[in-house]
Amino acid sequence: MDYLQINGGRKLGGTVTISGAKNAALPIIAATILSDRPVTLTNLPNVVDIRTLLKLLGMLGGEVAHDNTRAEINNGAINSTKAVYEIVSQMRASILVLGPLLARFGECEVSLPGGCAIGQRPIDLHLKALEAMGAHIEIKGGYVRAEAPEGLKGAKIIFDKITVGGTENIVMAAALAHGTTTILNAAKEPEVVQLCEMIRDAGVTIEGIGTSELRIEGTGGEPLHFKEVEIIPDRIEAGTYLCAGAITGSSITLEKVDAGHIRASIDKLESMGCSFDIEGDKITIHPAETIRPVNLITTEYPGFPTDMQAQFMAVATMAEGESLIEERLFENRFMHVSELNRLGADIWLKGSTAAVKGVDKLYGADVMATDLRASSALVLAALVAEGTTNVRRIYHLDRGYDDLEGKLSKLGADIVRKSGK
Ligand code: UD1
Repeated sequence: MDYLQINGGRKLGGTVTISGAKNAALPIIAATILSDRPVTLTNLPNVVDIRTLLKLLGMLGGEVAHDNTRAEINNGAINSTKAVYEIVSQMRASILVLGPLLARFGECEVSLPGGCAIGQRPIDLHLKALEAMGAHIEIKGGYVRAEAPEGLKGAKIIFDKITVGGTENIVMAAALAHGTTTILNAAKEPEVVQLCEMIRDAGVTIEGIGTSELRIEGTGGEPLHFKEVEIIPDRIEAGTYLCAGAITGSSITLEKVDAGHIRASIDKLESMGCSFDIEGDKITIHPAETIRPVNLITTEYPGFPTDMQAQFMAVATMAEGESLIEERLFENRFMHVSELNRLGADIWLKGSTAAVKGVDKLYGADVMATDLRASSALVLAALVAEGTTNVRRIYHLDRGYDDLEGKLSKLGADIVRKSGK
């Protein structure tokens, strides 16, 4: 199994190009099911999760030509509507095919994703909303079986909780439904916005894009014809490289980034003493002389993203003073705490809050990645730790970071991928 070996203590510098957003690309790939004609996607990140979802489309009978950042997908010939456990268990986001498969074919079977390292992560809100749209849903043998032989009907959906994937699934289902669907308490993440824009550009009337109230007029079963879609920059990858600059005390320039999408991370890094130059799609971080502690609470967009919580915790280990980090979205998203403490961090957990006391130094050790973003926090910590850190189980990182070690090496880090235990 591959691992990353990092010798800490190097200053970084130079420019890094940000890839397309995994979390935007996944729902957009799922949305291609709403079409029976070829669709081209560009600026895809070269990560495992994207390949997994494209493989699922292939298993359903779709034709996929994929070349790193570009995919041509033709779902005209789909001849199966079953998303098997083998794929869904590898990647929870496969549940995003539920809405579009049901909307286009009137039936589908999608394996239940089950729990994951960061918590229970149920899909009850997705299912309740589809039922409100007239779907008959049954859970049997580990699969969600959904049917709507006469097609889905527009409905008023009020999400009890803001859900990114739930909003995406229902937007896709509503696009082909009969009549109008209103979604209240919808997610407003940039990834949801890009999905809505793609569907709007295919001729569906969608009002309220980027707000918590969406109104979608369905086509009544007519498949959509999409224009080419260029995936938006990955705001979490961008935030992670800003944290790399902050923790190593280095000036780094990010290119192909949307500063508007990472406002929450920039604000918090400013409060920690960093400063920024923003020009077009480029951002340069200037590090703090001494890192100040930070208080942050994860919330839905435009608040501070849960997907940046672990990376900020890594930076906070180097602050002068105590930081408080509260996780509000996922109940078990602190698996990185014990691993950071193995590197010499001083972090105490109480319920959903972590108190991080800054330390003078971290020391290299063997650590284990537990989920995607926790893994990048360990890499960040390793960049400043004295000596050698081996980060194991990096298949988590490969799911969502495009060439992390290549990009960090180019910035001057001493990081290599090794194979072995
Ligand atoms: C997406 C992102 C993930 C990010 C998360 C929150 C993708 C592929 N993944 O995940 O990186 O961390 O948003 O920003 O885009 N919930 C329910 N019932 C449901 C659905 C969700 O209780 O039916 C709960 C979840 O357990 C969680 C909260 O709602 O506590 C938010 O989850 P949600 O926004 O749905 O996250 P994902 O779409 O899975």
